[in-house]
Amino acid sequence: MNSTELLLTRQSTAQLTSPAPDQTSLDTILKAAMRVPDHGALTPWHFTLVTGNGLNTLSEIFTQAAKQANFNEAKTLKAGKMPYRAPLIIVVSSNIVEHEKVPKQEQIITAACCVHAMQMAAFSLGYGAMWRTGDFAYSRYVKQQLSIDEKDEIIGFLYVGTVVKQAVIKASKSYKGYLSHL
Ligand SMILES: Cc1cc2nc3c(=O)[nH]c(=O)nc-3n(C[C@H](O)[C@H](O)[C@H](O)COP(=O)(O)O)c2cc1C
Repeated sequence: MNSTELLLTRQSTAQLTSPAPDQTSLDTILKAAMRVPDHGALTPWHFTLVTGNGLNTLSEIFTQAAKQANFNEAKTLKAGKMPYRAPLIIVVSSNIVEHEKVPKQEQIITAACCVHAMQMAAFSLGYGAMWRTGDFAYSRYVKQQLSIDEKDEIIGFLYVGTVVKQAVIKASKSYKGYLSHL
């Protein structure tokens, strides 16, 4: 796949299964994240790889977070199942640095670019990936359990794995209607 084809056909995949990307592919995915535009070269991000027994741990964390949020039984059960939607989850969090010229907002944007870069890298390598957030991305308890500092944010849970069923590439949206000229 050439780069233009990647940019024009990239899409997310919700239904994922094992195997997770092999070590070489994972290496490429993580290297893609490290290439994002980064004002001040602050590398204001952190990646937590969740695989194997880590998925069980994350399931327990989500279940506890759901209980703390007083979710009903069905929603709590659903929360515990979420991490099993892929064999690999890359939790992307910010690692904000105090900087006189680079506000927090820009550092969050940079960390978000990491998620996008990794989603694209996975897609270009023939794997599926999907960026998810939801309640647990904004849960103080989940952050604590993942050793993410109070000042930082969970930017996304990037679910990565093998595509269950190859999807038709969706039609592109037209940019007309999103343009103006000065
Ligand atoms: C910051 C962010 C958070 C997202 N969170 C969710 C989510 O929690 N659940 C979900 O179904 N899609 C979520 N999405 C959207 C999907 O990642 C995906 O982009 C969307 O389903 C459209 O599919 P596409 O990427 O193939 O165009 C999120 C996207 C972004 C950028």
